[in-house]
Amino acid sequence: MKLLFINGVNLNMTGVREKGVYGTQTLDEINKEIASHFKGDKCEFFQSNIEGEICTALQKADCDGIVLNAGAFTHYSYAIRDAIASIKIPVIEVHMSNVHAREEFRHKSVISGVCKGVICGFGKNSYILAGESFKL
Ligand code: DQA
Repeated sequence: MKLLFINGVNLNMTGVREKGVYGTQTLDEINKEIASHFKGDKCEFFQSNIEGEICTALQKADCDGIVLNAGAFTHYSYAIRDAIASIKIPVIEVHMSNVHAREEFRHKSVISGVCKGVICGFGKNSYILAGESFKL
C-alpha cells in the first residue's frame, strides 16, 4: 500500500514549538517512526507552510491513502478543502493535539466534511492510527 503523509503550516516546527502540546520529537524523527511502523508499505512525506503547495501535493498525489495534518490551515482553508474534494484518493484529517480540548477557533475544521475521517489527540500516533485505518 502507498501512503502519503502531508503536514501543513508550522508542522516543520514540531519538537521546537509548544513542546507541551506537540512533544519533543522533530517532524523528521516522527516521520522516521511512521516509516518504520509501515515498513511493508511505501510511505511518502511532504511538508509545506504554503497553502497552494499543499493543494498541488493533493492534486498530484498517486497513492492509496493520504494522511493530512493541515495545521492551522484546517480551520480556514477553503482552497485545501476544495483540493481534497477534487481528488478520488481518500484523505484522513489528523491532529496531534485534541483540538476540541483547546481554543474555540480550533474546534472548527473546514476540511472534515470532505475527509474520510478525523483522528486527533494521540500525538504522533494520530498519523499511525490514520494510516492503519486504510488497511481495515
Ligand atoms: C494541529 C492543531 C492545529 O490547531 C494547529 O494549528 C497546528 C497543529 C495538531 O496537530 O494538533 O498547527 O493540527
